[in-house]
Amino acid sequence: MNMRNVSVFGLGYVGLTFAICLASKGFNVIGVDVDKFKIDLISNGKIPFHEPGLNELLDEVLRNGNFRCTDNYWTAITESSISFICVGTPSKPDGSIDLKYVKNVSTDVGTVLKYKDMYHLIVVRSTVTPGTTRNLVRKVVEHLSGKKCGFHFGLCMNPEFLREGSAVHDIFHSDRVIIGEFDSKSGDLLESFYSNFYGSHTPPILRTSLENAELIKYANNAFLAMKISFINELANICEYIGNTDVKVIAKGIGLDHRVNPSFLNAGLGWGGSCFPKDVQALISFAKNLNYDPILLNAVKKVNDLQPYRAVDMAKKLLGKLKNKKIAILGLAFKPGTDDMRNAVSIKIVNRLVEEGARVVVYDPVAMDNARKIFGNNVVYADSSIQCIKGCDCCIIVTEWDEFRYLKPEVFVKYMRFPAVIDGRRIFDPSKFLGRVKYVAIGLGL
Ligand code: UDX
Repeated sequence: MNMRNVSVFGLGYVGLTFAICLASKGFNVIGVDVDKFKIDLISNGKIPFHEPGLNELLDEVLRNGNFRCTDNYWTAITESSISFICVGTPSKPDGSIDLKYVKNVSTDVGTVLKYKDMYHLIVVRSTVTPGTTRNLVRKVVEHLSGKKCGFHFGLCMNPEFLREGSAVHDIFHSDRVIIGEFDSKSGDLLESFYSNFYGSHTPPILRTSLENAELIKYANNAFLAMKISFINELANICEYIGNTDVKVIAKGIGLDHRVNPSFLNAGLGWGGSCFPKDVQALISFAKNLNYDPILLNAVKKVNDLQPYRAVDMAKKLLGKLKNKKIAILGLAFKPGTDDMRNAVSIKIVNRLVEEGARVVVYDPVAMDNARKIFGNNVVYADSSIQCIKGCDCCIIVTEWDEFRYLKPEVFVKYMRFPAVIDGRRIFDPSKFLGRVKYVAIGLGL
């Protein structure tokens, strides 16, 4: 078997980035998706989302023939030795995850493996709750193929930890590779696959049970979300005390190597496609086991309320918000992406609109997505200056670099009333205080 022949199921953000990176290292990769429109788009060299560096790599791997896309799962499985399952696991209304796409791919793989004589390795990369790989994927494939896991085919669970906006870098410079294995042969094969991919830069590899690997992914995201909720709670406390600044608190505790400084940037809360979904899924998973996850509930609750701190600050500055003109700088859930899934900007804008404010919004890349969400409820600006013009207050919601360069004089010049709410702590208070009305998350004056 040739472990350099790979199929990747699900050409969303995780699957497509992974597939292209593998192909760029000389692996022969077939990307599979049910969406024909997406396949055409990618085959013509277009990435359906914003991810720095990925377009260039796609051009390269299409040109050298290492990557092709198809909706034909049959040829993809017969022509590869290893299949990565990277389909989405969206939230259901009760917060648990919907496994229908994982089940669909398992069905495809099982159907084809019935007729394939060679050993095949199946690797689950989708974020799934503990037990899914063993009890859903394995059972569906065994049932449909009539073959035995650990004998005719192998099975691993290999979570990904990509961040949007730096996904390519994250793949090539991973901190670690987690390999959950059904049996040692499956684990050995995946370990040598990654040694091949990384060469002399192979990161630490942790081999463990399927269930541990599944839970590590949730634990990782929940822990990072907890760090942010923790520092946001400290920020809220700071605002009640004079002479305090959460940035200094974060620096002070981050210098303790046991705490570590990363993910201690206080702000208006965490959003995106992963943290909210994964924290909620872990809560629902624990509840289904009759365990009440006290800490996880608190992590989520702090975050649910955090965006409204900006609205409360605006009210303190302006009194009633009816007919006040408010500028929102930044809409994406974080800089470097056009993704607005679970972006805190949505909660803030909707609440301001409910309160009768006239809201003007600007984001360097997320405007198309914003139009789909806010429709005619807000005014769309073409630049940060146009956004703040004539406004009574400006809220920094996403910390894009281009906003960092805005000087206090700019706000004074263009706004009707120069009031700045620094929701992401991008400005130096000593330069803003006294020049404009300046309030910031975690700044106790
Ligand atoms: C995250 C994980 O980092 C990644 O490992 C996983 O695979 C997917 O989920 P991502 O959603 O791309 O990645 O964004 P990330 O950079 O982690 O930020 C998540 C949210 O937390 C953003 O809304 C960001 O603004 C917020 N955040 C992050 C803070 O508010 N403060 C911080 O210090 C760090």
